Amino acid sequence: MGRVPVAVLISGRGSNLSALIRAAQARPYPAEIRLVLSNRAEAGGLAIAAEAGIETGVVDHRGRSREAFEAELGDRIGAAGVSLICLAGFMRLLTPGFVEARRNQILNIHPSLLPAFPGLDTHARALEAGVRISGCTVHFVSPEMDEGPIIAQSAVPVAIGDSPASLADRVLKAEHRLYPMALALVAQGRVRVVGKRALISGEPPLPDGLFVPTPD
Ligand code: GRF
Repeated sequence: MGRVPVAVLISGRGSNLSALIRAAQARPYPAEIRLVLSNRAEAGGLAIAAEAGIETGVVDHRGRSREAFEAELGDRIGAAGVSLICLAGFMRLLTPGFVEARRNQILNIHPSLLPAFPGLDTHARALEAGVRISGCTVHFVSPEMDEGPIIAQSAVPVAIGDSPASLADRVLKAEHRLYPMALALVAQGRVRVVGKRALISGEPPLPDGLFVPTPD
């Protein structure tokens, strides 16, 4: 079977993008990163993608409507012929129209154990709440921010004396393992959404500490 073509949308440094590219360069991996788009020309991830020989583009969101911005995104994505979209530090909210048209085809990574701490300043809020365990979540995107069926999660301990930055560093390492694994499960066609849940079929080869919903 051919590899599933994927577009990655970014806004910044692109460390998760880099993890996805590295995974996709390994064989066998069921997905191929075919296109990287950023809404910011300064995004560091663009250089990472270009170096890997991946097509890149900038779609600026400024000075025009959300719909016009998304129409261009959609055109670029359509032209690349991709069937999955990974958001990796993409800092724009997508409209319900864009998301509904691509239901269960858009993945996002968020640096908390959703549904706890959606939105920005995640690590500071987790520390303020005094949680002992944080982590990261890969989920299908629904029109509400940081919601949608959970594909995979990784738990990360909070250390005594953690700052938002030190916790973010520890969670980021888990993100770099989790996102490639979650994308692989989706690309292999092993994830099925039933109601609000994503169910995984087969035995996922999981490194320690990773959790995915059990097959029904
Ligand atoms: C990550 O922590 C991701 O979970 C969040 O934004 C950050 C992006 O970092 N959505 P990077 O650009 O992948 O390095």
